[in-house]
Amino acid sequence: MSSGQTDETFVMDLDDTRNSKGHGFHCYKHDGVYLFVLPPEMLKGARPVDRINSIKEAELKDDDIIICAYPKCGTHWLWEVIEMLVSGTLQHQKDVKETRMMEFLAKDGIEAMPQPRVFNTHLPLRMLPKQVVEKKIKCIQIMRNPKDACVSFFNHLRDTNPPYNYEGDFVEFTEAFLSEKIPFGSYSTYLQSWKDEVAAAQGLPTLDMYYEDMKSDPVASVKEVARFLGLASTDKFCEDVADACSFKKMKKVDQEMKGGFPVKMWADGKGGTFYRKGEIGDWKNWFTVAQSERFDVTWNKKMKESGVKFTYTPV
Ligand code: A3P
Repeated sequence: MSSGQTDETFVMDLDDTRNSKGHGFHCYKHDGVYLFVLPPEMLKGARPVDRINSIKEAELKDDDIIICAYPKCGTHWLWEVIEMLVSGTLQHQKDVKETRMMEFLAKDGIEAMPQPRVFNTHLPLRMLPKQVVEKKIKCIQIMRNPKDACVSFFNHLRDTNPPYNYEGDFVEFTEAFLSEKIPFGSYSTYLQSWKDEVAAAQGLPTLDMYYEDMKSDPVASVKEVARFLGLASTDKFCEDVADACSFKKMKKVDQEMKGGFPVKMWADGKGGTFYRKGEIGDWKNWFTVAQSERFDVTWNKKMKESGVKFTYTPV
């Protein structure tokens, strides 16, 4: 994989995630997890590891909210829902949710953000500000069945601008997805770490959400979030929020009014988007039966005892 970077320090920070065909990710390894090496304009001259470490020292406000999720599990959707609930309006955000992403912002960016703040992150709890635990900041974890998350992640990285794109095929990607050698590590390890670290934090207010539940009953999910956040949102308002955040409406808003991503995200001519299909069960169009069975065996080996149960087919 070519680094695509001109600055020697960033080239030296890359860790090797390549498979036997030479396909991998633009990552370095930190605290056991592969993380993207951010582009120079986001690193602002800092080493990736220093910038990520700075997050732990960030000062938080008591009413901050953090969406925690593995990539492609519905962060954009939940972020828009929470922004509407918190603001009490049906206005879609003009900014993209990446402008509130902790790993992009680092300490200085987090602290500079005006209130009320709804952050999001793919990092494990141990890499977040220490004050998340100290101040008992409300965290919402949104999960999605791993096969659809894998398909969504593959499409995302295939369409991304170099050096962040993945050049291998779906079979290769699935192997990477089940290993640790993928950005943000394997999904099973991410979920296990989340569970262990939340348990160790004692008393951290967390809510577990599922993408599939949001799909099958969006209004109930919006109400659940409002309740967790202690908001007095009416039933009618929750219904309106669910409707304003439907896949179709959010895709339209993204095309028509969203401000730019902090860096150029999608490769020219590939049609990359955060609003691809928005369905449960698209994995069936990508996995062969044999591949799906192999995926289940590997996934279940690690996750059987976890208590996390996913829905793989629309009900
Ligand atoms: P697909 O690639 O399967 O379509 P994230 O926001 O975590 O990056 O997740 C992106 C996934 O959520 C994409 O999945 C995207 O289409 C889906 N998504 C985004 N907004 C959605 C919405 N309002 N309803 C349903 N799915 C949505």
